[in-house]
Amino acid sequence: MFINREIAQLILLQRNELTNPTLQKIRKIFGRRFFTKFVSKYFISPKLIGNEYLSLMKNEYDIVSKFLDFDKKNVLSIGSGLCGLELIIDRNHSIKKFSIIEKNYVSKKVVYGWDNKNYEAYNKLSLVESFLINNGLKKEKFEIFDFDSKKLPDKDFDIIISLYSLDYHYNFDVYLDFFKKVFKKNSKIIFDTIRADYFTNLFDSVKIISSNENTVHKSKRIICEGIKL
Ligand SMILES: C[S@@+](CC[C@H](N)C(=O)[O-])C[C@H]1O[C@@H](n2cnc3c(N)ncnc32)[C@H](O)[C@@H]1O
Repeated sequence: MFINREIAQLILLQRNELTNPTLQKIRKIFGRRFFTKFVSKYFISPKLIGNEYLSLMKNEYDIVSKFLDFDKKNVLSIGSGLCGLELIIDRNHSIKKFSIIEKNYVSKKVVYGWDNKNYEAYNKLSLVESFLINNGLKKEKFEIFDFDSKKLPDKDFDIIISLYSLDYHYNFDVYLDFFKKVFKKNSKIIFDTIRADYFTNLFDSVKIISSNENTVHKSKRIICEGIKL
């Protein structure tokens, strides 16, 4: 897997579980600001982070692929981080196109909690693009949208995926109006939440597909179909 220090830093900030006990100790002693700016960049092994990230993403693929048929589908990824999952999906299926919505900045101090205002972000879209291309995803197979530019994709999606992003760090409502435009009858969405029951008000079908007890919040991963308009 092609990876460099800047990309490994973002991956570490996006995936808290890759922060090993030594790094956690440094974070505790020197604070989150110092950790985010220096430690996460210079105290890491990009190769090791790359390998661990790949194996995390393979696990995620094993979970979601049991419930989704990706072939010839338009896939929307929300808060996809570096898009390791999308690379694995692409290697195993013939996707129509990925649309990716992310934010294009790194918060000064990564907090990993519920972010009421949805200000927290840890991504750089130019690096996502080079990571995807250098790892074999063709330019014409994906499109990246900056959430804050307010220009979001304008087409229907078969599949929407948001792992540890939508309704895990920020409220589902941020995307509700947009979803009402891009969902079609058989569209499916998978995301992580601590309030699975709430979504029975919004969708015709809500199924829990896995439980994540080791994460910051004890969340469930759910798959929903049939958005109520
Ligand atoms: C915890 S990371 C998860 C990344 C990736 N899904 C994964 O599983 O490795 C959450 C991601 O959500 C992104 N994010 C925050 N607000 C967002 C928004 N409104 N729309 C899209 N992405 C957002 C952050 O920049 C960050 O990359």
